[in-house]
Amino acid sequence: MDNVFITKKNTNGLSGEIIIPPDKSISHRSLILGALTKGKIKISNISLGFDCISTLKILNELGVRHKFLSKRELFLDATGAFIEPKNKLDCGNSGTTTRLMAGLLASKNFKSELFGDESLSKRPMKRIIEPLELMGAKIKSNDNKMPLIIEGGVLKGIEYKSPIPSAQIKSALLIAGLNAKGKTKIWEKTLSRNHSELMLEYLGANIKKGYDDNGYFVEVEKSSLIEKDIEIPGDISSAAFFMVAGAIIKNSDIVIKNVGINPTRTGILDVFDQAKINYKLLNKRMLANEPVSDIQVSYSENIEPFEIKGDLVPRLIDEIPILAVLATRANGKTVVKDAKDLRNKESDRIKAIVEAFMALGVEIEEKEDGFIIQGKREVKNSIELETFLDHRLAMSYYVLSLITKKELKIKGFDCINTSFPEFLNLMKEIQK
Ligand code: S3P
Repeated sequence: MDNVFITKKNTNGLSGEIIIPPDKSISHRSLILGALTKGKIKISNISLGFDCISTLKILNELGVRHKFLSKRELFLDATGAFIEPKNKLDCGNSGTTTRLMAGLLASKNFKSELFGDESLSKRPMKRIIEPLELMGAKIKSNDNKMPLIIEGGVLKGIEYKSPIPSAQIKSALLIAGLNAKGKTKIWEKTLSRNHSELMLEYLGANIKKGYDDNGYFVEVEKSSLIEKDIEIPGDISSAAFFMVAGAIIKNSDIVIKNVGINPTRTGILDVFDQAKINYKLLNKRMLANEPVSDIQVSYSENIEPFEIKGDLVPRLIDEIPILAVLATRANGKTVVKDAKDLRNKESDRIKAIVEAFMALGVEIEEKEDGFIIQGKREVKNSIELETFLDHRLAMSYYVLSLITKKELKIKGFDCINTSFPEFLNLMKEIQK
């Protein structure tokens, strides 16, 4: 992907209502947990980014059938009998596909191989290999990276204190635990996104969650899931690009419809409160056990600097690149810390952001677990920015380009298709 996207300069503000794409995390879970229901279920408003398509194609290789009813609506036909795949299973760019699927495959009585693209092949997998092996799976890897060759079988439940607050680790173990002997109990010091837990409750699994002396816990036992239709809310991580654009571009006032506001994902709203951004939550409601709202954001003249650390980090982990863009407009020093796992995302997001911002003339200091940005400095230079095939960097740089005086070139911009193929059309639609 060496296409270079040259951004349009200056806009007179953003206005109007938009519908952003379905939540990617919930879409992956609807497919995988839906496939475990042993029935026909209708999934509405499903993400069609490359990442969720990777999950769907792997399920097809495992014998699960689907039929699209309309563009974003499909029937999943799960018999409960997963078959040994004839081919290697392609996870593309998707860490969620890899880690959740590893949990499923570890509990099946056959051999399978998961592989991924260049960026995914560099990401750490020890975090799921170790606990799945404790449950009894046999997993060969390339020094704890992909490809993963999984020999699954009858697993036993474990008690596991997760060293990283990662919803992917938690979900992999919950999915494996659904078909294991005994209980699987996972603790997290800081709660990561809980969509798996909420969907498992919705589908009638044997699941308990709460807090004890070790922090947040969730526990599952062997369960038969009930076939129930699932409707997916819009993705707050996709909405984030528009929310920040609306806040920093003069004359903007936009409404983003139908956004998931699960508290484990709304760290961006906490940051908006700190930064004194003008926003409102309208029309709050529930959708398949998940809270949803419309979000109105308008231009905010005096943006306060903010601090991202501790428990807030997992609640906005994917939004840090776009919040770094917000920090360039703040009236002072913004600090991001306790976010070392950003180095293990689709790219090393700390390094990539620091290098790009420095080249643009933004005052930024790199830390091992984050960065410090001095806001309100003019972004002076016109350069070619490297996305490292990371969709969230590409979209963050696009939003940044809307407030820079000079043109920016964004290399490998096509990578936005992994989560948000409609991004540019939507951006153009609301630019005055
Ligand atoms: C995800 C969890 C997060 C997030 C990723 C999606 C999920 O990763 O960064 O984009 O759907 O479970 P970690 O769980 O590794 O933090």
